[in-house]
Amino acid sequence: MSESIGKKITLPCGVEIQNRIAKSALSEGMATPDGCPTPALFKLYEEWGKSEAGIIFSGNVMIDHKHLVNANVMIAEDDTYLESYKKLAIAAQAHGSQLWMQINHPGRQAPKYLDKAPVSASDIAMPSKVYNQPTPLTEAEIWDVIDRYGNSALIAKESGMKGAQIHGAHGYLVSQFLSGLTNKRKDKWGGSLENRARFAIEIYRNMRTKVGPDFPLGIKINSADFQRGAFTEEESMEVIQMLNDEKMDLIEVSGGTYERAAMVGTMQKESTKSREAYFMDFIVKVKQKVTVPLMLTGGFRTAEIMSSAIDNGEVDMIGLGRPFCMYPQVSKELIEGIRKDCTLPQIKTGVDKIDQSGMLVTPWYMFQLHRLGAGLGADPNMDPWMVYEKVTGKSRP
Ligand SMILES: Cc1cc2nc3c(=O)[nH]c(=O)nc-3n(C[C@H](O)[C@H](O)[C@H](O)COP(=O)(O)O)c2cc1C
Repeated sequence: MSESIGKKITLPCGVEIQNRIAKSALSEGMATPDGCPTPALFKLYEEWGKSEAGIIFSGNVMIDHKHLVNANVMIAEDDTYLESYKKLAIAAQAHGSQLWMQINHPGRQAPKYLDKAPVSASDIAMPSKVYNQPTPLTEAEIWDVIDRYGNSALIAKESGMKGAQIHGAHGYLVSQFLSGLTNKRKDKWGGSLENRARFAIEIYRNMRTKVGPDFPLGIKINSADFQRGAFTEEESMEVIQMLNDEKMDLIEVSGGTYERAAMVGTMQKESTKSREAYFMDFIVKVKQKVTVPLMLTGGFRTAEIMSSAIDNGEVDMIGLGRPFCMYPQVSKELIEGIRKDCTLPQIKTGVDKIDQSGMLVTPWYMFQLHRLGAGLGADPNMDPWMVYEKVTGKSRP
C-alpha cells in the first residue's frame, strides 16, 4: 500500500479528488469520422474507470469540426453528441474517478488531409510538408475561438463530466499564442508575454463564466518548448503565476512540441534520470512560487518515486500517460501496492533513424488503446513495423 499517492486532495473550487494519480490525456482516434464517441470508447473508459484514478483526462476533444488534430478525434462543438458524452462520463466515473474533458484546437498543427485552411496566431508554417501554411486569426475570430472553448467546457459539465482542461501544451493553438516563435502579432495578443498569455487567460475566463465557480478547470502547459526563440522556462513560470492568480484548480506541467517531442522523454537530461519525471527540476521551482495544485506528467514509472514526489511536497498530482495504455488499472495497482512499477516496453525496429526519431511512439500506444477498446489486452509485443506501415503507408524498408 503506497500511502501518499492514495491520499485525497481538495482543489481550490472545493472539489475533492480521491487520490493523487491521474490518467493524462491520450488521443484515442476512436470516435466516428464526425467526432462522436463510440462504443469502443465507452469500453476503453470503462476499463480506465476500474483504475479508480483520481482524475481521468479525456484524449483531446476538438472545439471545431473544421480544425482537427487527427482522424477520428472526438469533437464537442454543440450538444449534438451530448448523449454519447453522457455515456462516456458514466463509463469513466463508475468507481469514483472524475472525468475531465481535455479541450483543444490544433492551430497550425493540423495535418493537410484534415485541414486545408489552418489558422494560428501568425502565418508561421510548421517545418513539414504534412501541414498547410496557417492564416493568422482576426480579432473577431480569436473571440469566436475563445467562446468555443467555453462551449466545450459547458458540454463537459452538461454531460456529467467533473471538470475540463485547456490543452495549452505540445505546440497546439494555445501554445502557438504563448510562443514568440509562432506568435508575431503586433496587437494585444502578441509581443509581450502578458499579451501572448492573454489568449489562454481569456479562454479560462470564458469557461469559468459558463461553468460557474464550483466546476474544476485546469490547463496543461509546457515547462518549455525546447526550441530556440520559443516558449522558455522563465516564461512558463510567469504564465503559471498569472494562471495561479486567476484561481485555476489544477495546472499540469509537460513539455515539448511535436517538432521537439520532449513530452515522451526524447530530451531527458542525465541529471534527472534517477528522478524519472522529465520536468521535475522545473516543477520544484514553480512549487515555491504558487499555491495552485500542480500535476507533473512525463516519465513517472515507480510507486516509490511517485510517493516521494508527493511526500516531499514537490507535486500534488502525478500524471501517467503511456502506463495507462499498457496497464489500464495501473493507478489502483500502484496505490494498493500490487504493482511497484509500470516500466514500458522498448519500441524498436532496429533502424536507428526511425527509432531515434520517436515517430512510432505515439501511434504504437494509440493502437494499444484500440485493442483495449476492442476488449483485448494491451500487447507489449506489437510489431513496430505494422505501426510504421499504417502510419507512413509504405512497406518496411
Ligand atoms: C498515444 C498518445 C496520445 C497522446 N495524446 C495526448 C493528448 O490528446 N493530449 C495531451 O495533452 N497529451 C497527449 N499525449 C501525451 C501524454 O498525455 C503524456 O504527456 C506523455 O505520454 C508523457 O507521459 P508518460 O511518460 O507517462 O507517457 C499523448 C501521448 C500518447 C502516447
